[in-house]
Amino acid sequence: MGYKAKFRVWRGEAGEGALEDFVVEVNEGEVVLDVIHRLQATQAPDLAVRWNCKAGKCGSCSMEINGKPRLGCMARMSTFTEEETITVTPMRTFPVIKDLVTDVSFNYEKAREIPSFTPPKGVAPGEYRMQQVDVERSQEFRKCIECFMCNNVCHVIRDHEENKQAFAGPRFLMRIAELDMHPYDVEDRQNSAQDEHGLGYCNITKCCTEVCPEHIKITDNALIPMKERVVDRRYDPLVWLGNKIFRRTKEKTPKA
Ligand code: SF4
Ligand code: SF4
Ligand code: FES
Repeated sequence: MGYKAKFRVWRGEAGEGALEDFVVEVNEGEVVLDVIHRLQATQAPDLAVRWNCKAGKCGSCSMEINGKPRLGCMARMSTFTEEETITVTPMRTFPVIKDLVTDVSFNYEKAREIPSFTPPKGVAPGEYRMQQVDVERSQEFRKCIECFMCNNVCHVIRDHEENKQAFAGPRFLMRIAELDMHPYDVEDRQNSAQDEHGLGYCNITKCCTEVCPEHIKITDNALIPMKERVVDRRYDPLVWLGNKIFRRTKEKTPKA
C-alpha cells in the first residue's frame, strides 16, 4: 500500500544551501533512492544525486539519512514509520558539488599516496606461493565498494578539515594493513602508516566499522592489528635493538 512520506532534502551548491521540505509518494518495497528519483521526476527535476548500480555494489549513492551515513539504494522505506520526516543530506566530510552529490576526490588522492603491491625482486608472477590463511585474511578487505562512508563518519576528519592532510582515513589505513599482511609485499608499510598516513590519529572508536555496508570489521581486523604491529616494531626493545644492528634494507626477503 502506498502512502505519502515527508522528506526534508538538502538543496544547494558552492557552500550555500538549505533543507527543503517535500511530500512524496512511496510504494511498497521502495528504498530511499527510489523516492529521491520520484522527487526528481515529479517535483525537483534539477535535484542532484549520484547513483549507479542500485544494488549496493558501486558505492556511489552514499548519503546521510536522518544523520547517519547510508547507501540510498539499500535504505528500505519500510524501516521508517509513515509519520516520520526523513531527512536526507550529503556526506558531511566532503565538499558538496550540488545537493546530495559530494566531491570525494580526497579519497582518490589518498589512494594514490599508497605504493602499490611490491613483490620482492626475482619472484615472477605465477611463482608466488601463499598459505590459504593469508589469502583468506585479505579477502574481507577486498569486499570494499569504496562508498567512503567510513571516511565520512571518522571523527578525525569529519569536523577537522585541518587533519585531512595527515590522515588517510579508515578505508586507506585498511588498504595499508592489507598490504602489510601480504607475505610477498616488501614495502615498509608500518612506518609509513604511522608517519605519513596518520594511523596514530585513530583512537579505535569503531564508528567506521559500524557504518560499513559490507560489514568489514575495519577496526578489529585491520586497524588494531596494524597498530599492534607498529607498536611491536617501534617500542619492543629487542626489535628496536635488532633494527639498530641489522638496518633493514629495501631488499627484504618475503614475509612468508
Ligand atoms: S576506529 Fe579509527 S578510523 Fe575508525 S572511525 Fe574511529 S578513529 Fe576513525
Ligand atoms: S570499508 Fe566499508 S565503509 Fe569503507 S569504503 Fe569500503 S565498503 Fe565503504
Ligand atoms: S547505487 Fe550503487 S551502491 Fe547504491
